[in-house]
Amino acid sequence: MKNVILTGDRPTGKLHLGHFVGSLTQRVMLQNSGKFEEIYIEIADAQATTDNADNIEKIRQNIIEVALDYLACGIDPKKSTIFLQSQIPELCELTFYYLNLVTLARLQRNPTVKQEMKQRNFEKSIPVGFLTYPVSQAADITAFNANIIPVGDDQLPMIEQTKEIVRTFNNTYGKTLVEPTAVLPENETCCRLPGLDGKAKMSKSLGNCIYLSDPPEEIKRKVMEMYTDPNHVKVSDPGSTKNNPVFIYLEAFVTDEHLKKYLPEYKNLEELKNHYEHGGLGDVKVKKFLNDVLQEILAPIRKRREEFQKDIPEVYKILYEGSKKARKVASETVNKVKTAMGINYFEDTELINYQIEKFQKNK
Ligand code: TRP
Repeated sequence: MKNVILTGDRPTGKLHLGHFVGSLTQRVMLQNSGKFEEIYIEIADAQATTDNADNIEKIRQNIIEVALDYLACGIDPKKSTIFLQSQIPELCELTFYYLNLVTLARLQRNPTVKQEMKQRNFEKSIPVGFLTYPVSQAADITAFNANIIPVGDDQLPMIEQTKEIVRTFNNTYGKTLVEPTAVLPENETCCRLPGLDGKAKMSKSLGNCIYLSDPPEEIKRKVMEMYTDPNHVKVSDPGSTKNNPVFIYLEAFVTDEHLKKYLPEYKNLEELKNHYEHGGLGDVKVKKFLNDVLQEILAPIRKRREEFQKDIPEVYKILYEGSKKARKVASETVNKVKTAMGINYFEDTELINYQIEKFQKNK
């Protein structure tokens, strides 16, 4: 079996550090490992319409931002196919048939969808398209025969739903679709990076993000204003490193080389944490260190982004070519699906011959 990766993002804003540690780094690593025959990165603009039907302009504006963030992080269009979901009508076709293999109750149980419904005040009146987007995500995945799906842990319910659809489809119509496996980031801290305010998740709607494209002054300002342990008032006070986003970020980003370069008096992160917990280490010093580390990581990304920004038509061309290639693969899957279901009437000579005979007999 071929090893095929598919993953993607809704283009509702620029990508931030949460995306970076939660999936982008992993994708680039997998891309460059050479272990995958095909890699598809989807800009899920159609999925983004399911909760932005009244604000398509936001999606229109952000497609290019997400594409630039991908390219800046090292997604290489020669190795990975970046495409626009809305340009692959075959995905709608698959969704339409998969919808019959899922119950309403099953969709209503999806924990990620439930949480998103709460955030969007959809509980009283939910758009049907939004409730069913996990089915369309199953179409995204299966259309490309993807077996490896690198995602953050909030996407696990979608992969589970996809597996169920694949099994039901294959049991009902014969083995056709490939069952996917989710791959989470190795470092657990990276699965869900908290926001700058210490809230559960870095998220654009909460306004607690550092964006990959933020200028250096902005990154510094945001880091220096970060929430820390509210009981750590004086430098001499013992502080908590748990639920302290500054330390969680250090956990996610710092390497031994960073420590050697910026804080050589500490052998490792454990020592720094111990010092903070015992008192005598101020927030400003820790935040300055975090700022140094983030500046070092983000500078080359920002520089690459600026290069790609100089040739926007080229970026659109990458998306166009990627979508064309993706469409070809998706249409092969649709053919297989329709053949398995027996709705490929015009190619079905057996059916046609049967009908011929049936009506000859009736004569
Ligand atoms: N649901 C994902 C998100 O909100 C985006 C997405 C769409 C996706 N289709 C996908 C992710 C297929 C992985 C695989 O970010």
